[in-house]
Amino acid sequence: MDTERGESGRRLRVCVVGASGKLGRYMVQHALDRDYEVVGVCRAKSVGKLAGFGDRITVVPGPTDDREVIARAVAGCDAVLTVLVPWGVRGYSSGTAQAVLDLAPKGARLVFSCGWHVARDGRDVYSRRFLATVRIMTVLARLVRAVDVDDQVEACRRIFHSETRWTVVRGSDLEEGESQGLPVWSRYVGDPVLASNLTRRTDFALFMVEAVTDDGLVHEAPAIVGRGTPSALAHARRRGGAR
Ligand SMILES: NC(=O)c1ccc[n+]([C@@H]2O[C@H](COP(=O)([O-])OP(=O)(O)OC[C@H]3O[C@@H](n4cnc5c(N)ncnc54)[C@H](OP(=O)(O)O)[C@@H]3O)[C@@H](O)[C@H]2O)c1
Repeated sequence: MDTERGESGRRLRVCVVGASGKLGRYMVQHALDRDYEVVGVCRAKSVGKLAGFGDRITVVPGPTDDREVIARAVAGCDAVLTVLVPWGVRGYSSGTAQAVLDLAPKGARLVFSCGWHVARDGRDVYSRRFLATVRIMTVLARLVRAVDVDDQVEACRRIFHSETRWTVVRGSDLEEGESQGLPVWSRYVGDPVLASNLTRRTDFALFMVEAVTDDGLVHEAPAIVGRGTPSALAHARRRGGAR
């Protein structure tokens, strides 16, 4: 898919699952900026967070792992952008991913968000500090029974094995702030281009929405970093020097 119109020439219709969160709302805005039709899914108690978009989007309220909710929301969509969050200890993230994988229209572009901690294959290289932080967070989170990081990993395992047209975007640490443009990415965590480990949240969302029309990202799990970070700038200088 390489245009902002579907094959029939109509506007692209995209569903944002987890639309009321910070990343979700940025994705809704970027999709509207491209004149896409937008359907947002969020918990009923969070619908108010989407009020600013008025009638420019259709909201389907409900838990994102509820298959009936997802079936209704993704009907007729060209793409589904899903925020995978490791909330709860009852498979919320994997249930959400499974519902999207099973119920999105055949051939739809499916783009999921997660963090660098999700390894694609054995080729990601993590620093000892990063691994220790993830391990501590995983144990602490499980103790308070609010977050299950392993479930987000399970969600991605299912996506990697699916035959859909998926992309899993792996985010670095995030910060708020004005856009620096489309993040740069690498197939593998540990690539020096990623060393700064920071991305503006609005640009994470931009990358997710750009992936809808970038067929080069199908079956990729790009690890991203902000375009204006020192490691990305150093990489750009190296490439410039190499020409
Ligand atoms: N935060 C980071 O530094 C960071 C780093 C790397 C990658 N990421 C990735 O970026 C994405 C967005 O993360 P974010 O931290 O920026 O969060 P976010 O965009 O604010 O999204 C949080 C989401 O979790 C939902 N949520 C909150 N509490 C919940 C609960 N108890 N049960 C079910 N859902 C609940 C929110 O829904 P409501 O609106 O209904 O509350 C919202 O959709 C995720 O995929 C994350 O893995 C984040």
